[in-house]
Amino acid sequence: MRLIFAKDYEDMSCEAAKIVSGQLYLKPQSVLGLATGSTPIGLYDRLVQVHQTVGLDFSGVTTFNLDEYVGLSSENPESYHYFMKEHLFSRVNLRPDHCFVPNGMAEDLEEEGRRYDALIEQAGGIDLQVLGIGRNAHIGFNEPDIKFEAMTHKVRLDDETIRANARFFAREEDVPRYAISMGIRNIMLARRVLLLASGPEKAEAVYAAACGNVSPKAPASILQLHRDATIIADAAAAARLPEAWREHRSYHF
Ligand code: GLP
Repeated sequence: MRLIFAKDYEDMSCEAAKIVSGQLYLKPQSVLGLATGSTPIGLYDRLVQVHQTVGLDFSGVTTFNLDEYVGLSSENPESYHYFMKEHLFSRVNLRPDHCFVPNGMAEDLEEEGRRYDALIEQAGGIDLQVLGIGRNAHIGFNEPDIKFEAMTHKVRLDDETIRANARFFAREEDVPRYAISMGIRNIMLARRVLLLASGPEKAEAVYAAACGNVSPKAPASILQLHRDATIIADAAAAARLPEAWREHRSYHF
């Protein structure tokens, strides 16, 4: 695992944009795994900037988002699909038919999970998976006690996650209780993983991801076993990591 210690949110987003842009320059037909939430917004803004200023080309890129709320359509402003259209899909030259998000309106969510996994496989697998992290160390919507072998499936959200995500909804009661999410196995199958973390409320989760026991109790801890995982944490999110590591700009172990 590699850790990059960023000063703040801006610095974290810049570092992440360099890695994603570098991936696309090297492989213009890349398959990206994408995340939602507040954390990657700065990354998406910078990718749009690189697209506009130096022509970073998304025309050959395929994207797969990690997750979607059950019961929200892509036209619903609170859905993750809508979020992606607003923050990235509509702002770069991605082909709309190359942008995939699990369908939270599917009647049979198990079938939708299988369909989504098959699409990822047909696209050749994910080259670079972008992740945020929940306060309880969830990745995607893989909440604590998830089975590490899970592929895309229906999940019940933790109360803590519902509270944390309520800020995007008019009322906490409006937050869907279920989601459809890529599983840990989908994430582990990605060739590269890039996890972003910002702010003091993520410090425990980052510690669990990088230094804790590898356990389903902290889903992100599985990334310690990934062949090419990078965490970019800003100073507040990295605060619990060993000081000797934080003296460097980046640290491998
Ligand atoms: C949600 C998403 C995760 C995201 C997490 C953290 O639960 N399913 O993919 O990483 O929230 O969100 P934020 O970046 O807003 O803190």
